[in-house]
Amino acid sequence: MKILGSGHYVPHTKVTNDDLAKIVDTNDEWISSRTGIRSRHISDGEEASDLAANAAMEAIKDSGLNATDIDMILLATLTPDRMLPNCACTVQKKIGAVNATCFDINAACSGFLFALNTANAYLTAGMYKNILVIGTETLSKVTDWSDRSTCVLFGDGAGAVVVTADDSKSFYAVTGADGVKGPVLAGASTPLRNMLIKGNDDENLADSYFMKMDGQEVFKFAVTKVPECIGQVLEKADVAVEDIDLFVLHQANIRIISSVSKRLGVDPEKFPVNLHKYGNTSAASIPILFDELRKSGALDNAHKIVLSGFGGGLTWGASYIEL
Ligand code: COA
Repeated sequence: MKILGSGHYVPHTKVTNDDLAKIVDTNDEWISSRTGIRSRHISDGEEASDLAANAAMEAIKDSGLNATDIDMILLATLTPDRMLPNCACTVQKKIGAVNATCFDINAACSGFLFALNTANAYLTAGMYKNILVIGTETLSKVTDWSDRSTCVLFGDGAGAVVVTADDSKSFYAVTGADGVKGPVLAGASTPLRNMLIKGNDDENLADSYFMKMDGQEVFKFAVTKVPECIGQVLEKADVAVEDIDLFVLHQANIRIISSVSKRLGVDPEKFPVNLHKYGNTSAASIPILFDELRKSGALDNAHKIVLSGFGGGLTWGASYIEL
């Protein structure tokens, strides 16, 4: 699989740590020292499909293809505009990719990696030729803006890549999930409501709708699983860790990224970061960072890349790609 083009888009409204300190009991020092985050972009009206369509159009332009050349759209999100139609179909309409088969994938913050694997499987099977893979989130709508332990962490945004089949570029992936630990990071509940079920009042609905997280459990899980699955994917690809040019990790917390670099014994310089600008944008974080690196020239001399992430589910994954 070869990446032909990439793009990203974030909503124009930037919310700083100082802005958040006006609505919850927090401060810039606490947020930046615990997480590395200084600001995030929050949608003031654009839906996940709007963010995705902007990122997608940029990726298609960058690839040199036309929207009508795209024969599949795989869209990773945990915050679609609605359940029906799926968000990928809404994006298809917005960008005019009339020849594409479209569906959504939800693996929370690991979603983009899972979607990329799915694209690779379809390309390898020869079913499709040019696949648009998108990660898009409007996490702000499932964020409890009165909960300081979560509202400082997340942001909105979208990233996209266009991929095509290419035998000369290796691709290996490792993924995993642990549903038993699901409650550690959960939310956006749409409880069963029908004429047989009583007692689903709006207050309970609102409570289960917002994201809730056991931060320390997620932290422990991330610093263990990410280096573990990176080790596994490198073994599968038969590539030494020192031969990797860059590690493009899910942007959740600078301390998690530093811990992964230490555990792998790799120079932190090989772990680019943009979470200070965007916070954790879940499924969008890896493709946003990838696109920024590509556009800045940081990938010009990079050939072997590892992508890795973790998130709700719990889910995790690592992919080895060649540029
Ligand atoms: N501002 C100020 N104080 C805050 C705060 C905030 N935004 N959020 C929490 N606190 C307080 C807590 O109330 C607690 O106070 P107490 O000691 O008086 O009870 C104190 O800070 C420490 O809280 P704790 O939760 O132990 O902090 P932490 O060092 O574990 O950091 C996280 C919290 C969320 C930053 C950290 O656990 C983390 O990053 N976890 C991973 C989360 C993640 O990556 N999620 C996304 C997965 S895709």
